[in-house]
Amino acid sequence: MSDFNEVTATAAVIDRMSGCKDARLKQVMASLVTHLHSLVREVEPTVEEWMAAIRFLTAAGQKCDDKRQEFILLSDVLGVSMLVDAINHRKPSGATESTVLGPFFVAGAPKLEMGDTISRDGKGEPAYVSGRVLDLDGQPIAGAMLDIWQTSSDGFYDVQDPSQPEMNLRGLFTTAADGRFYFRTVKPSSYPIPTDGPVGRLLLALGRHPMRPAHIHFIIGAPGFEPVTTHMFVAGDEYLDSDAVFGVKTSLVVPFVPHDDADGAEKRRVGNPYYTAEHDFTLVSKAK
Ligand SMILES: [Fe+2]
Repeated sequence: MSDFNEVTATAAVIDRMSGCKDARLKQVMASLVTHLHSLVREVEPTVEEWMAAIRFLTAAGQKCDDKRQEFILLSDVLGVSMLVDAINHRKPSGATESTVLGPFFVAGAPKLEMGDTISRDGKGEPAYVSGRVLDLDGQPIAGAMLDIWQTSSDGFYDVQDPSQPEMNLRGLFTTAADGRFYFRTVKPSSYPIPTDGPVGRLLLALGRHPMRPAHIHFIIGAPGFEPVTTHMFVAGDEYLDSDAVFGVKTSLVVPFVPHDDADGAEKRRVGNPYYTAEHDFTLVSKAK
């Protein structure tokens, strides 16, 4: 036998997996052990530092419940979520780019008609958002479903804020033959990711702010097309260049144009003044 020491450690652990029947698990765990051992060799943590790391991961787990997911936040702020997204959604040019799902998606948003509002409390600056869902040839997609959610003007999702009605600022819309979508809402706000847990303390210690630039979330799917999970970012937001979760892509930044126009407001059934934002989404056929 050989001793387990600084030199033999990595090979010893990987050798111990020789009976693993799952080739992918074996590959992933061998790589994980290799990189983890490299990290330890490089930074040479003290025992106290190692225990601090254990306490951090323990606190992250303890912070999780049915509404809070601290490990998604951790993955997001370390850029891992966006890296996994990039690897899994290599798209042809012209297709709408994807970005993070984030921790505030809730299944079962109310089904609405085009032109309806997703704001259930009416608080905030009125906005009218519209566009088309297209294929790569620029043809409209009928029957595309848009699952939409966003923060209030205070920067909170309904699930974070007991003062908001349930399912506030969430809605499901289905396109007709023209591929068009249009709905009423309020202008979203930039907001901090939750900072009252270990990930927030880590950001503070790293000298990083926790802010995300204002955005509206979309998951868009249609029969025969790859679904896309993406955002519409508000142009001009001060955090576009420093999104805490690295989710911004230039192609997803959309101007929210201010209007002071009583007739236009009446036509769109929004209060005056109001904003309009227009953006087309392009899906990739599953056949391509
Ligand atoms: Fe968000």
